[in-house]
Amino acid sequence: MPEKITAPRGTEDLIPPQSARWQALESRARALARCFGYGEIRTPLFEATELFVRGVGETTDIVEKEMYTFLDKAQRSMTLRPEWTAPVVRAMLEHHLLAQGPQRLYYIGPIFRYERPQKGRYRQSHQFGVECTGYAEPAADVEVISLAWELVRSYRIADAALKINSIGDETCRPRYREALLEHFRPNLAQLSPDAQRRVERNPLRLLDSKEERDAPFVASAPRFEAYLCDACREHFAAVRATLDLLDVPYRVDPRVVRGLDYYTRTVFEIQSGALGAQSALCGGGRYDGLIRSLGGPQTPAVGFALGMERFLMIVEAAQGAPIETRAGIQAIGLGVQARAALLPVVAELRRLGVPAFMDYEDRKLLAHLKTADRNGARFALIVGSEELASDEAVLRDLELRADRRLPLREPRVLAASLVEATI
Ligand code: HAM
Repeated sequence: MPEKITAPRGTEDLIPPQSARWQALESRARALARCFGYGEIRTPLFEATELFVRGVGETTDIVEKEMYTFLDKAQRSMTLRPEWTAPVVRAMLEHHLLAQGPQRLYYIGPIFRYERPQKGRYRQSHQFGVECTGYAEPAADVEVISLAWELVRSYRIADAALKINSIGDETCRPRYREALLEHFRPNLAQLSPDAQRRVERNPLRLLDSKEERDAPFVASAPRFEAYLCDACREHFAAVRATLDLLDVPYRVDPRVVRGLDYYTRTVFEIQSGALGAQSALCGGGRYDGLIRSLGGPQTPAVGFALGMERFLMIVEAAQGAPIETRAGIQAIGLGVQARAALLPVVAELRRLGVPAFMDYEDRKLLAHLKTADRNGARFALIVGSEELASDEAVLRDLELRADRRLPLREPRVLAASLVEATI
């Protein structure tokens, strides 16, 4: 026997009923984005590698070790999208959208990161995210944060916590960086190898280290709050005041620093303990310098992305597997003649927008009813030789376990009466 081929490590197939939960999340996310005035953007799955090197930053985990990069047949370096923000900015510049004023865009789709797979961490995962460009005001930060929070709130995820922080801008960050370096340098030998490697290049990232060895040094590290310049301090205060005004519950957490280089000022994450080490189900923030660094005009921007796998894991942990509601009609024809009578009825039901299922082989009624259960049908429409003789069909309510008889009339009339009988 030839060896079976399996899905690549860190990827998942989505099959019913799980795919229906994805569809439900996608439509709720789309509806919410529409309520906030965001339109959908779709960009290619792969882009020039340079976009992510420049956009996400050379010292980030993503660019250093997680990109799916390949040479195409013309020897150009291409990379599967590891995140959406840089491609969205690329597309906005390419289509001159920024010249039209502020933009509000959302997206849903896969990202690819060559990470070590574990609970909540995949090599292909999916994000729902938004990008809002053109507003420097704190109200835009709050708009984006509220949109993310609304989605979490609408699923009633009790243990989700919104954490915000400010990581300053080019005026105050160098000062803070120096302070961090002064703090970590004397303790270099005690830090984890990862932290040691990072400290000179990106000392901010040490703050979200998950290594136990680093914990005491992280806990005693200077806080950004004391180093923010006046403009950043005011911005952060206004973000907090506006979140208070809108009753969005949050905590200021100096350890939220984010793993991508483009952030300025406000950063935030929504975290949940139910996810273990991969606690962030959503992350984002302001990125006022990215658009210019990708060759566009100086434009303030803010956005977030939510990991859909992690989100659904939490929804299930919080609410248990959802109760599947039954819908539609299983047409059960016992014998060739009965099936022939039912086929046009099924076709008519589908035209009327009623889910209708039918099997084509000769089996016992019980086997057909099992199939109806598997299909999640609410009703079974049963026709055998007896029914054919009496010109009647049995309509069984599979939830209430009750039968009624309907005249076996012309398919369109029967379908219409079925719609009436099953509402
Ligand atoms: P990020 O923090 O890298 O930010 O990703 C956002 C979310 O995507 C994470 O909180 C997590 O839920 C999910 N995620 C990321 N990688 C994986 C993975 N390997 N497996 C499962 N889930 C994952 C960004 O991507 C930014 N582009 C967000 C943003 C938009 N900032 C501004 N605008």
